[in-house]
Amino acid sequence: MSAMHGSHSILPLRVRGLGLTLDGARLINDVSFDIPPRSRTVVIGPNGAGKSLLLRLCHGLLAPSEGDISWSGPAASDGRKRHAMVFQRPVMLRRSALANLTHALALAGLPLRERNARAEAALERFGLGALAHRPARVLSGGEQQRLAIARAWALRPELLFLDEPTSALDPAATRAIEAMIATIHAEGVAIVMTTHDLGQARRHADEVLFLHRGRIVERSPAYAFFERPATPEARAFVAGELVW
Ligand SMILES: Nc1ncnc2c1ncn2[C@@H]1O[C@H](COP(=O)(O)OP(=O)(O)OP(=O)(O)O)[C@@H](O)[C@H]1O
Ligand SMILES: [Mg+2]
Repeated sequence: MSAMHGSHSILPLRVRGLGLTLDGARLINDVSFDIPPRSRTVVIGPNGAGKSLLLRLCHGLLAPSEGDISWSGPAASDGRKRHAMVFQRPVMLRRSALANLTHALALAGLPLRERNARAEAALERFGLGALAHRPARVLSGGEQQRLAIARAWALRPELLFLDEPTSALDPAATRAIEAMIATIHAEGVAIVMTTHDLGQARRHADEVLFLHRGRIVERSPAYAFFERPATPEARAFVAGELVW
């Protein structure tokens, strides 16, 4: 099982006082939160709030200007290997769907003899077996995104970051992606996701982080956030009125 890491869990992830300044602009400002094992956190906020930057910082793709991102357990220093990230636009290599998975597994250090079986199992797990030998880049946007999620799942992460995984997709593809996310979470994987789709946020959030201008303005259980947003910014955002 992908999330059976027992006492060696990399979670909770603890983020404290996180800041990012680029070219003199303070883009992330004093952000603190925890990500417990098996939790589902949805990061919402207007365009330019810093949602993508926050996920990139947590995944280790950007270095913070201030603050700490600390993973738990003895594997804290190589926590990177146990979290995976899926982007808004899938990044596929010019090779088959299957080879995109085996390549990712190679980069993750999986022995050659195990790569094919693991990659094929991941495709089968999500009903993508028929795509295995098709060139990944000719697949539809929805198929590529499903492939990107299968590729991330094949790495057996304990935490999956998803940055607007359905914003470029139609309703059917969106449903397919949401079903994958639900399946992965049901296996015990923690989810941290950004979305502009408030319906999707309601369906997939246990906890909401509401980001505005690089700061966490509100952090609450999802039901509380949607029923009774505490701040004027969050109220305006939920009502579709936030001007930015
Ligand atoms: N490399 C960079 N250098 C300078 N500014 C940047 C850089 N990357 C992002 N920004 C700025 O940081 C702010 C936050 O960007 P980010 O992409 O995190 O927003 P977001 O909340 O994900 O927005 P969206 O909803 O549009 O995806 C934006 O104003 C953006 O222009
Ligand atoms: Mg973004």
